[in-house]
Amino acid sequence: MKYLNFDDQLNKYISKHNDQDDELLKELREVTYQKTGRKMMISPDQAQFFRTLLACLQPRKILEVGVFTGYSSTVMARVIPDSARIVACDISEEWTAIAKEYWLTAGVDHKVSLKLGNANLTLSELIEKGNKSTFDMAFIDADKISYDDYFEKAIKLLKPKGIIIIDNVLWKGTVAKPERVDEDITALRHLNDKLAKDERVYSTLLPIGDGMLMITKL
Ligand SMILES: C[S@@+](CC[C@H](N)C(=O)[O-])C[C@H]1O[C@@H](n2cnc3c(N)ncnc32)[C@H](O)[C@@H]1O
Repeated sequence: MKYLNFDDQLNKYISKHNDQDDELLKELREVTYQKTGRKMMISPDQAQFFRTLLACLQPRKILEVGVFTGYSSTVMARVIPDSARIVACDISEEWTAIAKEYWLTAGVDHKVSLKLGNANLTLSELIEKGNKSTFDMAFIDADKISYDDYFEKAIKLLKPKGIIIIDNVLWKGTVAKPERVDEDITALRHLNDKLAKDERVYSTLLPIGDGMLMITKL
């Protein structure tokens, strides 16, 4: 097995070569931290991965589960065509108010449709209302214990050959440490194990950010 030891020096080198965030996105990260005290958004190098992927795929209908203050959705919305749409799901009115402000400033608000509420219910509603096999892409980045439910609903909503990206699947490396056990780690291990042998998909676990699964529906 060939693998690299990602020490601090190498991680800094990779980050330095994987960051095309402009002033607006830098400001959004800063404002997010000031107003929420949290750094839950994807990292700039994950954002760069999304830009590269979306510029190539040009998805027209994207599902995002977990919006927070709008960093990942703003990154995606800037790359997709003007007529494309992101259905953005989150439970927090307070955090998504910041997202709305930045979608407007970035000039992408017309591309994002916010669905406030429990994403499990929102996804079930989308399925019931005739959206099965209509999405080109889904990005799952919300509460970890619901990841399997989100994945199962997202795969119904996705077109064949569509892509699902799932964030935080390495959970700071804890998934690989048997002595570490809690409900989030257990949910993530279950999903990683399941997707490694799921015949409905091709799935690759990428060591970017906190670990991302990149999944293609067959
Ligand atoms: C990690 S943050 C999303 C970060 C965002 N994708 C980004 O990179 O900028 C997770 C978000 O999931 C939302 N969330 C948690 N549980 C949820 C649920 N049951 N339904 C919908 N959203 C939920 C939280 O409110 C939070 O904003």
